[in-house]
Amino acid sequence: MTEQTLVELLKEQLQIEKNFVVAVDSEIESVHNVAARLLLLETKKDSEKHALIIEGILQTVKKGESKPLWDTLQDSYVDKMVVRRKLENHVKTETAMMEHIEKELKEAKDEGIRLLLKHIADDEKKHHEILQTVIKEAYKIKP
Ligand SMILES: [Fe+2]
Ligand SMILES: [Fe+2]
Repeated sequence: MTEQTLVELLKEQLQIEKNFVVAVDSEIESVHNVAARLLLLETKKDSEKHALIIEGILQTVKKGESKPLWDTLQDSYVDKMVVRRKLENHVKTETAMMEHIEKELKEAKDEGIRLLLKHIADDEKKHHEILQTVIKEAYKIKP
C-alpha cells in the first residue's frame, strides 16, 4: 500500500468517524431506553477518540516523517525519568480501576449494568497494556 493510499483512507475514516459522532449525538437524546442511551454514548466517545488518533497519525504521515513512529520525537521540557515515573504511577491507577471494576462485576446482577461494566473492564485492561507498552517502547532504561 502506498503512503498516498494510506493518507486517503485515513482521511475518509476521519470523516466517517466525525459524521458518526454528529449523527449519534442527535439521536442519543431521542433514545428511550437507558441502556441503549449509555451504549450509544460509549460509541460516540469512542468515535471521538478514534478521530483524534487518526488526526494525530495523519499529521505525522503528512509531515513525511521517514522514521518509525516509535522513534519520532517531539520537544519536551520534562526529564525523561520524571515522565517514566508518572507513567508507572498511571499503571498503578489502572490496576486500581481494574480491581474496582472486578468487585463491581461481582456485585452487579443486572445484565445491562454488567454489559456496561464489562466494556469498562475491557477498556481498563487495554489502558493498562497501553501504558506498559509506552514504558517499554518509549521509556526503556538503556543499560
Ligand atoms: Fe471508529
Ligand atoms: Fe482506564
